[in-house]
Amino acid sequence: MTRTRIAGIGMYVPQNVVSNNDLARVMDTSDEWIQERTGIKERRYATRFEDTTTTMAVEAAKIAMHRSGVTAADIDFIIFATLSPDYYFPGCGVLAQRELGIKEIGALDIRNQCSGFLYALSVADQFIKTGMYRNILLMASETHSYGLDFTTRGRNVSVIFGDGAGAVVLQPTQDDHGILSTHLHSDGSEAETLSMMNPGFHAGKFCPSKRPANPSKPFGGLFITKEMIEQEDIYPYMDGPAVFKKAIVKFPEVIMEALTASGCQPSDINLLIPHQANLRISQMVQQKLKLRDDQVYNNIQKYGNTTAASIPIALCEAWENGKVKNGDLICLAAFGSGFTWGSVLLRW
Ligand SMILES: CC(C)(COP(=O)(O)OP(=O)(O)OC[C@H]1O[C@@H](n2cnc3c(N)ncnc32)[C@H](O)[C@@H]1OP(=O)(O)O)[C@@H](O)C(=O)NCCC(=O)NCCS
Repeated sequence: MTRTRIAGIGMYVPQNVVSNNDLARVMDTSDEWIQERTGIKERRYATRFEDTTTTMAVEAAKIAMHRSGVTAADIDFIIFATLSPDYYFPGCGVLAQRELGIKEIGALDIRNQCSGFLYALSVADQFIKTGMYRNILLMASETHSYGLDFTTRGRNVSVIFGDGAGAVVLQPTQDDHGILSTHLHSDGSEAETLSMMNPGFHAGKFCPSKRPANPSKPFGGLFITKEMIEQEDIYPYMDGPAVFKKAIVKFPEVIMEALTASGCQPSDINLLIPHQANLRISQMVQQKLKLRDDQVYNNIQKYGNTTAASIPIALCEAWENGKVKNGDLICLAAFGSGFTWGSVLLRW
């Protein structure tokens, strides 16, 4: 039976370390508040005019390719997950393809926010299992810092998010290692609870208060308006408590779904790598599943929430630190905007 294995993994975080105190200099917040509510001590911000979502992903990809012993010529499909693409279109998949010198293979962009890496992994798994591709390069990368609201108004969102990238090369294997199962879910009924609606093509359809009052033109003029800019209605929005409540239910549920599919128990997990949403969420998930500290990996303290990139960054770091060993049962789980959530169980 063919399975998909992670043949190589890499990560890249920008050099610029931004502490909670650095943020407290530009908005009304404090190191104490941020650490107590989120566990975050610092995060990385992209170097302005140098790093982009694409360039960071490419750096992570080079490491993943080197570690898996493949070159650009071996890659036969690209998948790129992000919510902060360099361009509105085309997606980062083709930009990374160009930067890596990869020619004319397919490049797919995934937009599932915090669950993006797991959605991408699941898609890649299907392509590999069917034999369609043999070397898939999957990148997940975010540059939040270029587009957050760094005033007190945006503090509940801006203190949480950080920049960075992770990448994996996926290959088929015939042995017992690799992905055992993937589980994807979504529920659009609360799509706006964690969202960035503007600029956008919605024209206020789902949210009348966002309907442009006096479109100045008979055609067009709805994607980005003067009002949006004047009212600074161009930033991510999050109802934090609502996200928190849902996350602490859906994380354990989808982890149990993955374990049950393989006849496993929480005690069988060698390492759970939750999407690094908030340390408090990870701790509540750990408690609910009665996992020991050494069974859960957290690095949000150093990087903040890097959305689609958080799981590959954490997995890469855990592997580099010797916390992921051959034969280990690894569970990856995510929850985020959409809402979307998912899990992947794999044997390393
Ligand atoms: C965002 C989050 C940390 C906020 O914590 P919370 O305890 O729910 O806080 P609330 O939003 O209820 O706000 C409590 C108070 O803190 C204030 N506050 C919000 N952000 C703040 C900040 N960065 N610094 C200081 N005070 C802040 C609020 O204005 C509010 O003040 P008020 O009581 O005077 O109105 C928390 O809701 C959370 O982590 N939710 C999940 C978010 C998440 O994981 N998102 C990513 C999903 S992938």
